[in-house]
Amino acid sequence: MAARGEFSSQTAFILAASGSAVGLGNIWGFPIQVASNGGGAFVFTYIVLTFLLAYPILMAELVLGRHSKADTVRSVVNISSPKVKPFAYVTGYWGIITASLILSFYAIVAGWMIGFGAGSVAELAGLTELKAWLTAFSLERNLLLCLVFYVLTMSIVANGVTAGIEKWSTRLMPILLLLIVSLIAFIATQPGAMEGWKVYLQPDFSRILDPDLVISALGQAFFSLSLGVGTMMVYGSYISKADNLPRLGATVAVVDIGIAVLAGLLVIPAMYVALHNGVTIFDDAGALIDSDRLIFTVLPALFETMGFAGIVISVLFFILMTIAAITSSISMLEVPVAYVSESWSFDRRRASMMVGAGIMMISFIIIFNFEALFGFVINLTTRYSEPLIGLLFCLFVGWVMHRNHLLEELKQGSPDLENGLFWKIWPSYVRFVCPLVMLGVFMHSFGLLSF
Ligand code: TRP
Repeated sequence: MAARGEFSSQTAFILAASGSAVGLGNIWGFPIQVASNGGGAFVFTYIVLTFLLAYPILMAELVLGRHSKADTVRSVVNISSPKVKPFAYVTGYWGIITASLILSFYAIVAGWMIGFGAGSVAELAGLTELKAWLTAFSLERNLLLCLVFYVLTMSIVANGVTAGIEKWSTRLMPILLLLIVSLIAFIATQPGAMEGWKVYLQPDFSRILDPDLVISALGQAFFSLSLGVGTMMVYGSYISKADNLPRLGATVAVVDIGIAVLAGLLVIPAMYVALHNGVTIFDDAGALIDSDRLIFTVLPALFETMGFAGIVISVLFFILMTIAAITSSISMLEVPVAYVSESWSFDRRRASMMVGAGIMMISFIIIFNFEALFGFVINLTTRYSEPLIGLLFCLFVGWVMHRNHLLEELKQGSPDLENGLFWKIWPSYVRFVCPLVMLGVFMHSFGLLSF
């Protein structure tokens, strides 16, 4: 087996892990959730939950990964006693399957992003028919663009941790930031934008404890930090033993929140500019129309009202979305690829191509049965699988991993750990608090518990 990859610096890890975390979940999912869940109240709850629940679980994954320096299955198996090993295998495999299924729907949506971006380029070139094809929902378009997205994802992962994942994350993340900030600045100058800023920044505090809002915010925090499938565990396994894990984890959480908040400053004001320009965004009852397709209906309609500038803005916006999607999809594909190349000793290149092609077949099955499968797979993975696996990861770190090993692992890269706040709170936190809260949320999703 070839030597394992390792991120070449702390910054490289931060960019790669933030690249994973910052994705369609931040730029598409987050603003929609904010708009349909009481504006700033959702933002507030989401930030609190990210620190209280998502960050501790992120740390659990990073510790498990770096401790074993192995793929996700072996990371949980290695710390388990013979009796616990079967559960460890189930958890590891389940994570791999969930990561693959998340990629299978994510790549379809990412394909649409490419379509809208390329569509606006086609419009600039005067190719209106091509534009119409690229932006209209059809079997052929969905298949082709999804394939394009897989080719991009597979070719990055095939090159490995440093020459693939790290290289592309460090290139693309700064571009992403630049694009988002420029777009915010442009939208802010448009009439109507201020209304959006107000809605976004003035929380309706009466909704903060609304259970549905809390559950949605938790789901969002989980998905957004790429938790509950082993993505962060496998990235953690590529962190050097000299690096300070709690600090790296906190940085990634802050970047993830920061970009989500920025995305809100872009998309919410944009919606109100659209409203100002005559695009319908609310139905008679005052609810956001077509909330899932916001990005594909309201925003393109808005760009259309802006003439030539609108086309350019549209190209930039969908490039932003595509970049966000790629730095995330590579982290999903990395989970099964690391397993196949390490545990089965496959050459990484071959593993990336084979696994990527296999998951692409699942995407195609979803595309052919879109109505029946698309929403189903999203729900199955993000509402049920991820929180449940996140819960299991907590149990492994809190109850299975030896406390001394945990301390030794964390002390590498942060020698003063024992005296700090993190070590005082976190270990019992992942042991008791996180599992109980996750269990509560999980039972609520299954309708076994109502609050
Ligand atoms: N966090 C990414 C987003 O916000 C999506 C993502 C990447 C992900 N890897 C993951 C989600 C692993 C769940 C599990 O879009």
